[in-house]
Amino acid sequence: MNSTPLTSSSPSVLATGPAAAGGPPTVHPAPVLSARRLAMTYGEQGTATHALDGVDLDIARADSLAVMGPSGCGKTTLLHILAGILRPTSGTVQHDGADLASLGDRARTRLRRNDFGFVFQDGQLLPELTALENVILPRMLAGISRRTATAEGRGWLDRLGLQGMHDRRPTQLSGGQAQRVAIARALAGRPSVVFADEPTGALDQGTGQTMLQILVDTCRESGASLVMVTHDPQVAAVCRRTVAMRDGRIAQEFVRPAAQPGQGPSAAEQPVQDPAVTR
Ligand SMILES: Nc1ncnc2c1ncn2[C@@H]1O[C@H](COP(=O)(O)OP(=O)(O)OP(=O)(O)O)[C@@H](O)[C@H]1O
Ligand SMILES: [Mg+2]
Repeated sequence: MNSTPLTSSSPSVLATGPAAAGGPPTVHPAPVLSARRLAMTYGEQGTATHALDGVDLDIARADSLAVMGPSGCGKTTLLHILAGILRPTSGTVQHDGADLASLGDRARTRLRRNDFGFVFQDGQLLPELTALENVILPRMLAGISRRTATAEGRGWLDRLGLQGMHDRRPTQLSGGQAQRVAIARALAGRPSVVFADEPTGALDQGTGQTMLQILVDTCRESGASLVMVTHDPQVAAVCRRTVAMRDGRIAQEFVRPAAQPGQGPSAAEQPVQDPAVTR
């Protein structure tokens, strides 16, 4: 496993495709998300918490990134800033080259709705809506007709193994099934980036691993980048990159070599071995 210091030129280490197998070097397009010198302070002077303290991070298209680190080190804060949910105290986030800070509230909402998907620990499904309605609501809010959104939503639910459950409410689903609805909802808008915060935290290990593989595979198939916060090294191991945070900074980065078809076990199946990442 490679250990690569994170620098502003980190996209150059994101070798996927033929280069990883000794083929011609891969030319990488601009990152889908690019964060520079992010700092975040909560509260006032005296009671201030410095949650982020100078984070630089590039996220390549269709790549998968795990964000690890001890409780309170700033993982969720980073995720929310990258997703435009929180504004940083200082620093910049660019999505497709556009600075999030330059967008008004409406444009940020539109960006979150159209370009980003979210999977959080408890799924955050609306309990009064059916599985299908949960999936299609954000699409309809984004201006898609009910008919189109319904056809797409049914397709996603079926693809995630939820045939026959479209009309159930979240309370009538198991935790794993509800999580799959949340994944369908996150992916239905064909987002460029899916953000997941402890997506398997509430599930048993077997169900969690299955969900995770579905999340990673569907992101890969649809060309979405995945940014996932997790405490669990086994969960992080399905991602190609891992950054380990400490006290609001990125302390280390690990890049797994891309697996090539027919080359035995996927690199994603290798455990994260460096104990520094798992602390
Ligand atoms: N709204 C807030 N107001 C004040 N402090 C906050 C707020 N949100 C987070 N913090 C503080 O910022 C720091 C980073 O919090 P964050 O939620 O990003 O950590 P985390 O790495 O996601 O932790 P965990 O693994 O426990 O979820 C913590 O010290 C936390 O107490
Ligand atoms: Mg958190």
